Amino acid sequence: MQRSFGRGSLELWQGDITRLAVDAVTTAANSGLRGGGGVDGAVHHAAGPRLLAACRGLGGCRTGSAVLTPAFDLADRGVRHVIHAVGPIWRGGEADEDRMLVGAYRRSLELAEEHACASLAFPSISTGVYGFPAARAAPLALATVRDFLAAEPAPAHLRRVVFALFDRPTLDVYARALEAL
Ligand code: APR
Repeated sequence: MQRSFGRGSLELWQGDITRLAVDAVTTAANSGLRGGGGVDGAVHHAAGPRLLAACRGLGGCRTGSAVLTPAFDLADRGVRHVIHAVGPIWRGGEADEDRMLVGAYRRSLELAEEHACASLAFPSISTGVYGFPAARAAPLALATVRDFLAAEPAPAHLRRVVFALFDRPTLDVYARALEAL
């Protein structure tokens, strides 16, 4: 499923984010940038041990923001950067989770644009072990990308944003949210 916003496109795709040939891949990281399971484990595995070494030098990232490193072994696929986005842990919905989730997406988009990326992939940030309900996260994630692509003036570089959704139920939730956007 795909929709156009401004000069850019937003696509939904089901699968492992490390299989995509995009300029930048976003991972759902923790604020210590220590690596982990889920999508972060897959990205660190695919990028190789130099990714964790690069993260150690950054001193962490605050929740609701993102930082950028090289993609190391993912460069074999044409990926130039890994963006480490730190989404919120779900605490019931009254602890600023929505704003922090939007911040993590927004800063990732800014970093991709600042580094002249034409294409960027996102996982569904915070909806795994961090427990953010996918049905609440999806409209926030998609609207943040839409607003970035449709902004005036338009982004100079970013043209394609792909959501790599690992499982079918998550893909279905995002597909419904994209239709309703
Ligand atoms: N590609 C795309 N999506 C994936 C992949 C993958 N290879 N592996 C898992 N996912 C999906 C999950 O199914 C979920 O829908 O990514 C989404 C986010 O789940 P998590 O990876 O658990 O991320 P999050 O909820 O943000 O929790 C972050 O998990 O491993 C740690 O270091 C990470 O501490 C941080 C926390």
